[in-house]
Amino acid sequence: MRYTLRVWRQTGPSDPGRLALYVVDGITEDMSFLEMLDVLNERLLAEGDEPVAFDHDCREGICGACGMVINGVAHGPARATTTCQLHMRHFDPAFAITVEPWRARPFPVLKDLVVDRSALDRIIEAGGYVSAPTGSAPDAHAIPVPKAAADEAFEAAACIGCGACVAACPNGSAALFTAAKVTHLGLLPQGQAERRSRALDMIAAHDDLGFGGCTQAGECTAVCPKEIPLGTIARLNRDVLSATLSLSGESVAGGGRS
Ligand code: SF4
Ligand code: FES
Repeated sequence: MRYTLRVWRQTGPSDPGRLALYVVDGITEDMSFLEMLDVLNERLLAEGDEPVAFDHDCREGICGACGMVINGVAHGPARATTTCQLHMRHFDPAFAITVEPWRARPFPVLKDLVVDRSALDRIIEAGGYVSAPTGSAPDAHAIPVPKAAADEAFEAAACIGCGACVAACPNGSAALFTAAKVTHLGLLPQGQAERRSRALDMIAAHDDLGFGGCTQAGECTAVCPKEIPLGTIARLNRDVLSATLSLSGESVAGGGRS
């Protein structure tokens, strides 16, 4: 098959960028979207042109590196699918495909389709961990975990940090990502000690980094390759509210300490 592509080309963060037109031949329906870009890049290299820069690593839907906006949709038209797992059978060769990087203030474009997603790492650093005392490893069954909590924690832990939720959100919010991280630790017994500070510190980092507020538009969950549910954000909000009320209660009980 032969496809017409409109691909975002940008030499660096200060370049205004533009859409460039390419025609790519020899594509089969079972090629992935990244394999199609590989074919384009091999041709560009053979012709002495600069290949299109794009991010990828596992190509198995695990690492979260490969995000791009395809025809206006983060990760493209297939539900619950990362760009690396998206196959060309989803595209009609009669129509041009537009490929752009994530667009969000905290994700500056580094080159072409590659953005700097390290703002998500800063949110994790603010509280996305549990502190565990060192010493001999406890028995695996020493801390019972209710099945329902384990299942919900596992669902939230499926977040791969791709940033599609941010790219799709009209407010550029990372609420779904932050909620997934807060939830997967906050539901487990091992995560209780830091539950309040985790929720407050991670949402503070989220806001400080320039991500927008959540207005429950729902675009995030629609494009999430791991189908993190919108209700996860409600759980984050409950944790933030409960932590805030606990701290203000402690402040009153402690004689007005703030
Ligand atoms: S919540 Fe979904 S869309 Fe957002 S970073 Fe995690 S996996 Fe990606
Ligand atoms: S390259 Fe790892 S999720 Fe796509």
